[in-house]
Amino acid sequence: MDNVKTSAVHYNDKVVRQLSIMAVIWGVIGMLVGVFVAAQLAWPELNFGVPWLSFGRLRPLHTNAVIFAFGGSALMGTSYYVVQRTCQTTLFAPKLAAFTFWGWQAVIVAAVITLPLGFTQAKEYAELEWPIDLLITAVWVSYAIVFFGTIGTRKVKHIYVANWFYGAFIIAVALLHVVNSAAIPAGWMKSYSAYAGVQDAMVQWWYGHNAVGFFLTAGFLGMMYYFIPKQAGRPVYSYRLSIVHFWALIFTYMWAGPHHLHYTALPDWTQSVGMVFSLILLAPSWGGMINGIMTLSGAWHKLRDDPILRFLIVSLSFYGMSTFEGPMMAIKTVNALSHYTDWTVGHVHSGALGWVGLVTMGSLYYLVPRLFGKEEMYSKSAIELHFWLATIGIVLYIASMWIAGVMQGLMWRAVNPDGTLTYTFVESVKASHPFYVIRVVGGLLFVSGMVVMAWNVLKTAASGRAVKVPVPAVNPAHA
Ligand code: HEM
Ligand code: HEM
Repeated sequence: MDNVKTSAVHYNDKVVRQLSIMAVIWGVIGMLVGVFVAAQLAWPELNFGVPWLSFGRLRPLHTNAVIFAFGGSALMGTSYYVVQRTCQTTLFAPKLAAFTFWGWQAVIVAAVITLPLGFTQAKEYAELEWPIDLLITAVWVSYAIVFFGTIGTRKVKHIYVANWFYGAFIIAVALLHVVNSAAIPAGWMKSYSAYAGVQDAMVQWWYGHNAVGFFLTAGFLGMMYYFIPKQAGRPVYSYRLSIVHFWALIFTYMWAGPHHLHYTALPDWTQSVGMVFSLILLAPSWGGMINGIMTLSGAWHKLRDDPILRFLIVSLSFYGMSTFEGPMMAIKTVNALSHYTDWTVGHVHSGALGWVGLVTMGSLYYLVPRLFGKEEMYSKSAIELHFWLATIGIVLYIASMWIAGVMQGLMWRAVNPDGTLTYTFVESVKASHPFYVIRVVGGLLFVSGMVVMAWNVLKTAASGRAVKVPVPAVNPAHA
C-alpha cells in the first residue's frame, strides 16, 4: 500500500513473535502431558512408581501448562498485537513488555519444576506456591501497565471492543489472583491459605469460575472480535451487540462461582444465586457467539476454502455448546448427577479444546505469517490437516467423557429394591475403561494436530524474516 502515509515509528512485534512461538511450544508440551495423564487413567502402571510422574502431580502440570503457558502466552501475544493495531501506536514501556515475556516464561518454568516435585497450595488452577505467586503479580501488574499505557497513548479516539475484553481479562485476573492466593508463608515452599473452611472453598471457586470467565473466555473473546472480522474481511456483525455482550458477560460471570459447590456446606441461598446467574449467563454468551458467527453472514462460502476461518468459526460453535451445557449443569438437580463424574471433564474440554484451542490456533495462523513478513502460512494443506485432526480429536474426547460421565452418575445412584447399591464403585471404574482409551486416542489426534502446527509455524518463520511494520500516520479526521 504505497499511498498510505507512514510515520517513522514501528510496531513492537518482537514480543508478539516471542509470545506466539512460545504459545505453540507450550501447547505441544501441555497437551502431551494431557495425553500422558489420560493414558495413566486408562493404564495406571504408567505411574512407574515414580512420585514425580504420579497423576496427582502431573495433572496440575497439565492444567497450568495448557491454561497459563499455552493460553496465557497466546493471550498476551495477541493482545499486544491487537492493542497496537487498533490504537495505531507502538507498545507503551517496551522494556516492561519484554519483562512480561521473560517473567511469564520464568513463572511457567517454575511451575514445570515445582509441581512434579509436589509443591502445591492445593487450590485448583492456583497451585503455585507463594514466591511464584509474587512473580505472577509482578508480571501481571507490568502487563497491565503496558496494555493500558498503550491505550492511554492511542492515536485514535475510539477504543475497539476487542480491547475492552482484553482489558477486563487483565483487571479481573489481577483481582482474582491477589484475593485467592492470599496466604501465610510457612517456609519457602509452603503456605497456609488466609481463609478457612467453607469461606476458603467459596473464595477458591469464585476464583475458579472467574478464571474460566475471564482467563478462558473474556480474553479469547478479545481474540475473536479482532481476528474473525480480519480473516473474514468484514466488519463485526453488530457493534452494538458487542457492547451489550461485554457488559452483560462481565457483570454476570462474577456471581456464578457457587455452582461448583452445590450440595456442600455453602449456604443453600448462595448455591441458588450461583445457579440463577449461571442460567442468565447463557444469554450474553450466546449473544457473543451469534455476533461472531454472523460476522460471516453473506460470506459463508469463505468457509469452504479458508481453513483458518473454519478454525475460528468452529471454535465459536464449541463456545456455544459449552455455554449451553454449563448453565444446564449448574441446575442443582442436573449437577446432582454430573458432579464428580467425567461429564464435568467432557464439559471442560469442549470449552478448552473446542473454544480456547481452536480460536487460538486460528488467530495464530492469521498472525504468524504477518509477523514474519509472509503472505500466508508455509503450508495451507497442513492447516487443513490440523483442522481435521483437531476436530475429530475433540469429538472423540468429549463424546467419550459424556457417555462415561452419565454412565458413572447413573451407576452410582442406582439402588436395589432393598435399598443397597446396585453397583460397587470399582464396577463403575471398570465400565469407564473403554471410554478412557477412546479419550487417549482423541487426545493423541488433537496433539498431533498441534505438532503439525508447530512444524508449519517453524517453516513459515524460517522462510520469512522478522519484519518491521511501520505505524501508519493517523488521518486527523479519524483521530
Ligand atoms: C491433547 C489434549 C488434552 C488431553 C488429552 C487432556 C487430558 C486431560 C486429562 C486426562 C485431565 C484429567 C481429568 C481427570 O482428572 O479426570 C485433564 C484435565 C483438565 N484439562 Fe485437559 N487435556 C487436553 C487439553 C487441554 C487444553 C488445551 C486445556 C485448556 C485450554 C485443558 C484444560 C484442562 C482442565 C481445566 C482440566 C481440569 C478439569 C477438571 O477439573 O474438571 N486440557 N485434561
Ligand atoms: C455459561 C457458561 C458456563 C457455565 C454456566 C458453566 C458451568 C459449569 C458447571 C455447572 C460446572 C460443574 C461444576 C461442578 O459440578 O463441579 C462447570 C465446570 C467447569 N467448566 Fe464450565 N460453564 C460454562 C462455560 C465454560 C467454558 C466456556 C469453559 C472453558 C473454556 C468452562 C470450563 C469449566 C471448567 C474448567 C470446569 C471444571 C472446574 C473444576 O471442577 O475443576 N466452562 N462449568
